[in-house]
Amino acid sequence: MIVNGETRLCGLIGNPVSHTLSPFIHNTLSKRMTINTVYVPFQVEKNELSQAVAGAHALNVLGMNVTVPYKTDVIPYLDAIDPMAKGIGAVNTLVRTQNGYKGYNTDMTGLCRAMQTEGIRLNGEEIIILGAGGAARSVAYMCLYYKVSKIYLLNRTIEKAQNIADELNKEFQREAIIPMHLAEFDKIPTKKYLVIQGTSIGLHPDSEACVIEDPSFYQLAHTGYDLIYRPFKTRFMKLVEEAGGVSFNGLGMLLFQAIDAYELWNHLEISDEVAMETYELLKAETKKA
Ligand code: ATR
Repeated sequence: MIVNGETRLCGLIGNPVSHTLSPFIHNTLSKRMTINTVYVPFQVEKNELSQAVAGAHALNVLGMNVTVPYKTDVIPYLDAIDPMAKGIGAVNTLVRTQNGYKGYNTDMTGLCRAMQTEGIRLNGEEIIILGAGGAARSVAYMCLYYKVSKIYLLNRTIEKAQNIADELNKEFQREAIIPMHLAEFDKIPTKKYLVIQGTSIGLHPDSEACVIEDPSFYQLAHTGYDLIYRPFKTRFMKLVEEAGGVSFNGLGMLLFQAIDAYELWNHLEISDEVAMETYELLKAETKKA
C-alpha cells in the first residue's frame, strides 16, 4: 500500500474498536481493486461523537463505518438517512455528501446479499427469528422490507418480542410478526423454515451454548443462519445440521456489509469473484484471531 497525496481515508467509529476485522476487509479490497484508500479504526468517546463526525467531514474523509455503541446515537449528526436505515433505527455506514454524511445500514443489506449469494429466498417465505434485541429487530425489519410473509419471533423475554411485533406490524401494515416465548416453539406449524439465530448466545468464548437446546426444535429448520461468526461453526449450526438442515454463520454478512459500504464509497461494483477471494482471506484471518 502506497500512501501519497491522493490517498483518501475511510474509517470506523466505535468503542472499543481494537478487535475489528473491518480494516482487514477494506484494505484487502483496496489492494485487490487498486483503489487509493486506507481504512483505519477510530476509538471515539461518547461525548465526542458529534465532533468525530463533523471532524471527519472537515478532514475530507470519504466514508465511515459506525459500530457499537453508536449505531443509533450517530443518527442526529447525519445530513441524510436511507429509508431502510431510518426504519431500522441504526446506521453502520456514512457516505460523504457535500454538507455531511448520509447514513445507511449495510449490516442488513449485507445480510440480505449474503443470503442471496447462498441461494436463500426471503420473498414470500415464512421464517423463524430467535431473539428480540437490537440485532434481531434489525433482521426482522429487513425481512419484512424484503417481503417475507410471516415471522415467528421467539425470545426469552416475551415482552420484547411483543414490542417489536407491535411496532413493525404497524409500520408494515400487516400482522406479519407473531411474538412467542422461546419455550413455545412447539406451537409453530410443523413444516420447514429458514431460522435466523439473532441472540448473543453461543458467541466465543461461550461456544458450547445455544439459545434452544431441544433437538425437536431443529426439525423445523431447512436452513439455520447464525449471525455469529466466532466460532466458525456455532452449536446452533451443529444442531441444525444434526437435524438434517443446512447452516451458515455470520461471516458472509460481515463480508457483504463491508462490500456494500465499499461500493457506496467508491462508486463501483465488487464482482462475485473478488467477493469470494476476500471471503477466503477473511476466513483465514478470523481463524488467526
Ligand atoms: P444485540 O444488540 O446483539 O441484539 P441485545 O440487544 O442485548 O444484543 O440482545 C440480546 C439478545 O440475546 C436478546 O434477545 C436476549 O434475550 P432477552 O431479550 O430475553 O434478554 C438474548 N439473550 C441473551 N442472553 C440470553 C440467555 N441466557 N438466554 C436466552 N436469550 C438470551
